[in-house]
Formats: sequence, structure tokens, C-alpha cells
Amino acid sequence: MENWEKLRLEMLEKINAVRNEKEMEQLRVEILGKKGVIQGYMSRMRELSPEERKEFGKSVNELKNSVETYMKTVHAKLKEAALEEAIKREKIDLTLEGVKPYNGSLHPLDLVQQEIEDIFVSMGYSVVTGPEVEINLYNFERANTPAGHPARAMQDTFFIDEDRLMRTQTTAVQMRALEKYHDHLPIKIICPGKVYRRDDDDATHSHQFSQIEGLVVAEHITLGDLKGTLELMCRRMFGEEQTIRFRPSYFPFTEPSVEVDVSCPFCHGKGCNVCKGSGWIEILGAGMVHPKVLSAAGIDPEKYTGFAFGVGVERIAMLRYGVDDIRDFFQNDVRFLSEFNREE
Ligand code: DAH
Repeated sequence: MENWEKLRLEMLEKINAVRNEKEMEQLRVEILGKKGVIQGYMSRMRELSPEERKEFGKSVNELKNSVETYMKTVHAKLKEAALEEAIKREKIDLTLEGVKPYNGSLHPLDLVQQEIEDIFVSMGYSVVTGPEVEINLYNFERANTPAGHPARAMQDTFFIDEDRLMRTQTTAVQMRALEKYHDHLPIKIICPGKVYRRDDDDATHSHQFSQIEGLVVAEHITLGDLKGTLELMCRRMFGEEQTIRFRPSYFPFTEPSVEVDVSCPFCHGKGCNVCKGSGWIEILGAGMVHPKVLSAAGIDPEKYTGFAFGVGVERIAMLRYGVDDIRDFFQNDVRFLSEFNREE
């Protein structure tokens, strides 16, 4: 006969020695599995006499129950320990400061352009664009600046060949729009875009810069409409207390032509070094669309009138943000650009 108690203690000992759930499973198969030790005893019962078998069977069952219960208890403890261990290992220290991701930001020129677009779109204008590589027709001729006209010299041009050039003004887009929409009046558009001039770059000149052209053509449009519109734009851009003034000027495509000054946003008209003591800063050119420009596009100047303006985006951005060198906009220095990150 077996020493059941010794056997039981040996098994419990083995269970105690188990270190993890995996080992426990191995031991369970070894003792309680189909080919395990207990099953081994069960199959030996056939060889015994009926009396012996009863006694033997009872002992095997007791052994089995005892071992099984103890195994379960130890298994539960191991499981709990494993969980605690995992919690400890996977613990996230929420007090640790994270690494701040680098945020991109819109370019200051885009910010200004978007702001101006928003102002005009809110007044019912559409945004229209055109090609940067232009032909004489739209950049000059339709703008009442035929070949040989002295006004062509006002803008030093990058020519690609005799007829093609880098547009010197978004007025070219105005001319395209007049042609395209001449029988879909009224026209109320702004045209933002890059323009090019053969200038030497310095603090106030760049061979490439941006303009926003404005154009309204309808019946009964007057210089007063132009003034009201530009005044509204300036107040939105530089503050409600801003005023503007018109000075007579000359552009071949407008008559009359004006240059528009805004009261200096830095000294509010008192006079400072930015406005050179005058209290005014020139910000754009404008005028009433020349009758010749309207007729060339197929619009009857007796019936329709219009105003137009062209504003330099860099100039507005420089005044708006107090930037004193236009080249800063084009050097892509992150230290400069990140100044305009509105998220911060
Ligand atoms: N195209 C002019 C320039 O680049 C600016 C301008 C002046 C545009 C008067 C206009 C205008 O539409 O009416 O200097």
C-alpha cells in the first residue's frame, strides 16, 4: 500500500516550489492531467481486489481533491502577484513633463493675405487668381500701357521672351477678369498673388513680392465707394480710429488715380520715424477704372464705372507687425517665422 500522506506532502511541496503560472500549468498536467500521476493510480485499480479497490480509490480521490484545492489556491496567488507586477512595470508617470511637439505656423504674409481676403469676402467679393507668367496683353496693353508708353518704365520687368514676362502687377488679373466677366456684371473681386520686378533687393525692395488687387465694376460706382471701402479695410487691419487720405497720382489704367495714405499706426498721426514725421503712411494705389480699360474689355464705359486698387501685402505686414526689413519675409528663419504662431 502507498503512503498517501507522504505522497500528498511531496505534491504540496512541489506546488509550493512553483514560481509562475506557466510552471503551475506544467505541474497540473504532470499531476492531474490525463497521463498524470493521479490518473496513473486510477488505472492501477483494475489490478486490485474489490475490497482493496474501494480503499485505494478513496485514498486516490482524497489525494486528488487535496492537491487540486491547494493548487487552485496557490495559482490564484500567483495570478494576483503577476498582475501586481504588471501594474508596477507598466506604470506611467503622469507627473513627467512631455516633449512639446514643434508646431508649424502660417507665414505672416499668408496671415495678412487671409485677413484681407476675409474682409472683402465678408463684403461679397470673390477671390480670383491668374498666372504669374503673363503676356504683354494683360500685364500692360489692356491696362492702357501700350508698347512705348513711358509708364512701362515704372515697373522694371523680367521678360521671358518678347511677349512673355513675369507679371509685374496683379492688375494683369484685373484685366483678365474684366475680359472674362464683361457680360456678367457687376464684378466684385480681389486678386491676391505674387508679382516680380527687376529691383535690387534691399530693406524695402524685393524682386518678388505680393499684391492684392481689388476691382468693382457696376453701374453708379464712384470714388466715394472706393474711399469707403478702403477706409473699412484699413480700420479692420489697423484699428477703428484709423483714417485714410487720397493724394492725386498717376496710373495709366485709372482716371482719376490716387495714392492712399493711412494715418500712421505707430504714432496715430503725431509724427514718428516710421512715418518720417508726416503722420501718414502710403499703403496703396487706386483709382477709377479708365474708360479705355473698360472698352478694351468690351464693357460700355458710358453705362458702367468701376474702381480698382492694388495693395502691397509685404507693406501691410511690415506695418502690421513692425517688421523693418522686407527680406525677413523671404529668408525662412524659423526664429522670425515662429513669432507669428498664433497658437502660443
Ligand atoms: N498696379 C499698381 C502697381 O503695381 C497698383 C495699382 C494702382 C493697382 C492703382 C490698381 C490701381 O488696381 O487702380 O503699382
